Amino acid sequence: MQPIQYAIIGGTGVYDSSLSSYQKSVQTEYGGVEVEIAEVQGKQVVFLPRHGKQHGIPPHLINYRANIKALHELGVQQIFATAAVGSLNPDYPTGSLVVISDFIDTTKQRPLTFFEGGSAGVKHVNMDDPYCCNLRKQLLETAKLHGLKLAGAAVYICTEGPRFETEAEIKIMRQWGADVVGMTSVPEVILAKELGMCYASVGFVVNMATGMESGAIQFDKIEEILASNKEKVNMMFLDIFSKILNQQACQCSDSIVSL
Ligand code: HPA
Repeated sequence: MQPIQYAIIGGTGVYDSSLSSYQKSVQTEYGGVEVEIAEVQGKQVVFLPRHGKQHGIPPHLINYRANIKALHELGVQQIFATAAVGSLNPDYPTGSLVVISDFIDTTKQRPLTFFEGGSAGVKHVNMDDPYCCNLRKQLLETAKLHGLKLAGAAVYICTEGPRFETEAEIKIMRQWGADVVGMTSVPEVILAKELGMCYASVGFVVNMATGMESGAIQFDKIEEILASNKEKVNMMFLDIFSKILNQQACQCSDSIVSL
């Protein structure tokens, strides 16, 4: 099978409607993964719904290593992801789209690496540019053409979930410099980098985080926000892929330090 260079994680919807696609099972040492492969302007793109096709896998139980390994085995070099997030930053109100630029990890019980020592040795991955600078630049340059407004760059704090945060936690997270909170970007972004793949993510702000507004946290706009942006954002990703990116403008494929 020819390698497939591009992938979209979390991008359900596009292949259901306008693109012809086929399903494929990929077996990895971490488990099996179901993906959808679509043909877009003569190029193949892998779609991987992070929570499963029926949205049945909660964030703390996603098999992140199997997902990323499966993409790598298919030949993927560039990944765009989407993530629903809560906002800690009043400049990013509900409905905003943000480009995730960095992360803070507060997860507790997820396998975080492919590097387990033994005969493979001790390896570390650089985190100076966790979200590929090249892909992020392309997002900023391409959004307007697709009628999308990106509100800015955002530091993502990843919680274990599946519960939401307490008000006291959000207060601390704001002091740490977090702009948005979610439950899935870690370890996804780390694992992609460990395998030398470029990864960037667009956050959909679906609510203000706990305590950011008076009264109970409001989730009533989630469906509307996802539905009104998903298709356009996926089209933007496909447009960027069609420009044939190479990895010369970033260091993602060379991020491993062996000690
Ligand atoms: N917290 C954590 N994850 C989330 C949130 C939130 O407020 N909204 C969407 N994903």
